[in-house]
Amino acid sequence: MKSLIQRLVETTGPSGYENQVRDLVRKEIENDAAEIRVDAMGNLIARKGSPQPGGRRIMLSAHMDEIGIIATHVDANGFVRFTTVGGVRPNTCLGSRVRFLSGVQGLINGEKLDSNDKVHSFEQLFIDVGAASRADCPVKIGDVAAFDRPFLDLGNRLVAKAMDDRISVAVLIEVIHQLKSSPNDVYFVFSTQEEVGLRGATTAAYGVDPEIGFAVDVTLSGDTPKGIKMETSLGKGPAVKVRDSSLLADPRVVRWMIGTAEEEHIPYQIEILEAGGTDARAIQLTRMGVPSGCVSIPTRYIHSPSEMVDFRDVENAVRLIVALLSKPVNLE
Ligand code: CO
Ligand code: ZN
Repeated sequence: MKSLIQRLVETTGPSGYENQVRDLVRKEIENDAAEIRVDAMGNLIARKGSPQPGGRRIMLSAHMDEIGIIATHVDANGFVRFTTVGGVRPNTCLGSRVRFLSGVQGLINGEKLDSNDKVHSFEQLFIDVGAASRADCPVKIGDVAAFDRPFLDLGNRLVAKAMDDRISVAVLIEVIHQLKSSPNDVYFVFSTQEEVGLRGATTAAYGVDPEIGFAVDVTLSGDTPKGIKMETSLGKGPAVKVRDSSLLADPRVVRWMIGTAEEEHIPYQIEILEAGGTDARAIQLTRMGVPSGCVSIPTRYIHSPSEMVDFRDVENAVRLIVALLSKPVNLE
């Protein structure tokens, strides 16, 4: 699974330009899904399961897109100014490298500041792709890039630029591989444009029209020096979301997840995230409403070019989701 994770996180796929990720996902699951389709928003939707009486139509969603940048201006000397695609912060940009969809690579640096204690604003940052003039610059206005950083395997801990949310894409692929049979009608959605407002999951959920839904996404962890106050830590299991700023998980879905984890002796944590949201919001609010929740992978340094997860949490997320899908679901 680590090699699958590496291939996924090293692929470039900022919001709206997920095609390279989608091609990779399709190749991985082609022989394991009953049906695969791509909708107008670019969501890849794979169905699996042989619905029995009492089986439910369940939608899972993991987003393929990552945060990135878009070129807004190239100056006479070939320096590229940019704006963000999704939640990029200026303090993680300085010194970062970026890769455009064309394959062109560059680095981000900034104007001279009057004090070393200050952080650049986006207006003060630029990309240097090694060009000497505008004519010479291979980047044009509107070109899109993502951060560029190789996968790092530290044993239990894995580090990459797009753990958010390729780690969950890897989890769903692995679930599709491992799920032998399901009494439910399961729709695995690999969604687009989550980072700019859950846009892919919104149309996918409308199309799938699920009876139960959950997202698989990263969440923050509270286990770094003087970090945020949060109960989740790396290595203590996947987290069952109770609340974030876009979702109050359906208590019946939370009980289903916790009950299954306990039955199967899978470690889990409870997640209460102060700020942030996932595709679960889009699923919950589709059509006339859908009982929804989220399985989260605790992650350090989210939306930086080096996001860290614990591989055991990833494996346990796979086990938990396979168990959730393998039995008839009675929400109570
Ligand atoms: Co994100
Ligand atoms: Zn995410």
